[in-house]
Amino acid sequence: MIHRTLPILLALTAAASAQDGGQLYTTHCSACHAADGKGATGGQFPPLAGSPWVKGDPQRTIKLVLHGLTGPVEVAGRTYNLEMPPQGSVIPDDHLAAILTHVRASWENASSPVTADMVKVARAATADRKTPWTAPEILKLHPLPAVAPPIANLISSIYPGEWQDLPDFSKLKPINVEEEHDGLISITHADRNEQFGLVWEGEITAPKAGKFTFSLDADDCARVIVDGKKVAEVRGIGPLNGSRAKQGQIKLSAGRHPIRIEYVEFSGQEGIALAMKGPGIPGWRNLSDQPLPPERPSLMVTPTEERAVIYRNFLADTTPRAIGVGFPGGVNLAYSADNLAPELIWTGNFIDGGRHWIDRGQGNQPPAGEQVVKLSGSRALADTARFRGYKLDPAGNPTFSVQLGKQFVLDSWKPVGSEGSPAFLRTLTVNGQGSPVEFLISDKLPLKKAGDQDYELGDAIQLHAENAALESRDGKTYLKLAPGKPVTLTYRWK
Ligand code: HEC
Repeated sequence: MIHRTLPILLALTAAASAQDGGQLYTTHCSACHAADGKGATGGQFPPLAGSPWVKGDPQRTIKLVLHGLTGPVEVAGRTYNLEMPPQGSVIPDDHLAAILTHVRASWENASSPVTADMVKVARAATADRKTPWTAPEILKLHPLPAVAPPIANLISSIYPGEWQDLPDFSKLKPINVEEEHDGLISITHADRNEQFGLVWEGEITAPKAGKFTFSLDADDCARVIVDGKKVAEVRGIGPLNGSRAKQGQIKLSAGRHPIRIEYVEFSGQEGIALAMKGPGIPGWRNLSDQPLPPERPSLMVTPTEERAVIYRNFLADTTPRAIGVGFPGGVNLAYSADNLAPELIWTGNFIDGGRHWIDRGQGNQPPAGEQVVKLSGSRALADTARFRGYKLDPAGNPTFSVQLGKQFVLDSWKPVGSEGSPAFLRTLTVNGQGSPVEFLISDKLPLKKAGDQDYELGDAIQLHAENAALESRDGKTYLKLAPGKPVTLTYRWK
């Protein structure tokens, strides 16, 4: 018996050691690092493609995967501060060897294979380890492979002066000129805290010919010039937090190119972050000691083809209790439950939810689309009126409901436009007995008659009103609503 099964067992182990690294990568890593190695969820997770962490001495990468990683880590010019769970107990040596061999030879990575013996050595050497590594801990054991300085022959010149924007440095004389051997622009050496200018000059290398992107952010202002051409510029006074960051592109031939960076610190915090990317450079290559601030992910909230989508969060240019509705066909609405009125309508994209996702609801999200029209910014009905919620029809079209004594005012919206001619149909109804209700239609936009039932509302909207008594007073437009007599208004963008 034993005699017969032994060869089969041996055959099985042989097959196991020739593991399919790609498939194992999909099982164990791609949920977070993505199938293309660029980091899952649009780069929220760090990349393995082009990462120096997977190059050079395999012990670093093996130990990292065995025990996980926590805290801030810089990968290809960006800082992440997440946690990678330990994988050591679930992945046997030969499987991990196959995965890392795959990772080190995929995308633009080109490093030597990893063997099961190397994993065994790493496992034994770190057997006592109970917690994930921090980046400094593991780098102390296994530093990242050395890289050439990103800017060759770098020289910095410092200019004292009080500027709130970039001066013409060519007309000024520096008080100090220094060589910067680490090849990174940095203001930590600058012997001044406030009110100075700095200019760096050196050479960058384009590994291959093609289009390169430069990303620049500064506190306060800065400019990048490559091959004598201005590529990106951050003007005026302000913080370095990504909100004023600028990108620019330039075509470069393979080889060295002169770069000049001009910078001004006025007051308060100081800093400059510059990075480049392009053909032959995996991810961003930092040209400053300060990495780029994290990119805000774009998370476009979009309706489906059949159904509108609701977004409830702080929306710019309306009140805190706003209800955003994005309709199929590219028309959008923000209804204020405080003012009982639609306050904004716009076309194209609905809302980018990225800011709320990152900052947990801080800051107001502006409409992501175009042709934004602010219809009103004050209450549409008397102070005694109360918002009573909204109902959605099967297509997600909302009807907002407001109670006014014993009467209810229903305000329904649906898209009626066609390709190239976006439009909304709004139906207003007063239910219940009582006197007519006066409803504010707009307090912002002048109303001009353009036909029997047609009007122009401001510069952007053609308004078609059926069965409607519209009235303008003091630059505001009102609608008289008689109980039981629905009125329809069509808002069409010109
Ligand atoms: C549950 C998500 C998750 C899984 C699964 C995962 N990682 Fe990670 N990995 C991370 C996170 C998050 C970081 C960054 C940790 C930090 O910020 O400290 C990271 C960092 C890394 C790094 C160092 C930084 C870089 O981008 O080069 C390497 C190398 C790495 N992981 C390899 C792997 C490999 C190989 C696998 C599969 C065996 C794997 N990871 C599985 C989440 C994951």
